[in-house]
Amino acid sequence: MISGEINIIFGWVWMCIGFVSGMTLGMWAEGEKWLGGYASITRRYLRLAHVAFIALSVINILYGKELGSPDIPTYVKSIGSPLMIFGAAGVPLACISAAFFRKTKYFLPLPALALLIGTAILVIGMIF
Ligand code: HEM
Repeated sequence: MISGEINIIFGWVWMCIGFVSGMTLGMWAEGEKWLGGYASITRRYLRLAHVAFIALSVINILYGKELGSPDIPTYVKSIGSPLMIFGAAGVPLACISAAFFRKTKYFLPLPALALLIGTAILVIGMIF
C-alpha cells in the first residue's frame, strides 16, 4: 500500500469518529448547564475535538490524494504521511483529554507541529 492510501483510509475512518463525536455531543448539547454550559472551556475543547476529527480527516484525504502524484518525492511520502496521521489523531484526542484534564492541553503543540511539518514537506516537495 503506498503511503497516500493510508492517509485516505485513515481520513475516512476518522471522519466516522467525527460524526459519532457530533452525535454524542448532540445528545446533551441543549443542556444549559451540561459540562458548565455552552461557553465553558470543557464544552469548547469538546467542540474543537469534534471539528478537528472532521477537518483533519478531510486534510488527510486531500494529502493522500496529493501523494498519489508521481511528481511527489519519496521523502514526502515516508515522512509527511505518518506525520499527518499522527497530527490528525493527536489534535482531537488531546482536545478531549484537555476538556477533562486541563494540563494535558500542553500536548496539543506536538500533533499541531506534526501537521505543520507534514504540510510544509509537501509544499517543498511540490515546488522543488
Ligand atoms: C453526523 C454529523 C454531525 C453531528 C451529529 C454534529 C453535531 C454537532 C453538535 C451537537 C454540535 C454542538 C456541540 C455543543 O453544543 O457543544 C456541533 C458543533 C459543531 N459542529 Fe458538528 N456535527 C456533525 C457534523 C459536522 C461537520 C461535517 C462539520 C464541519 C464540516 C461540523 C462542524 C461543527 C462546528 C464548527 C461546530 C461548532 C459550532 C459552534 O460552536 O457554534 N459538524 N456539531
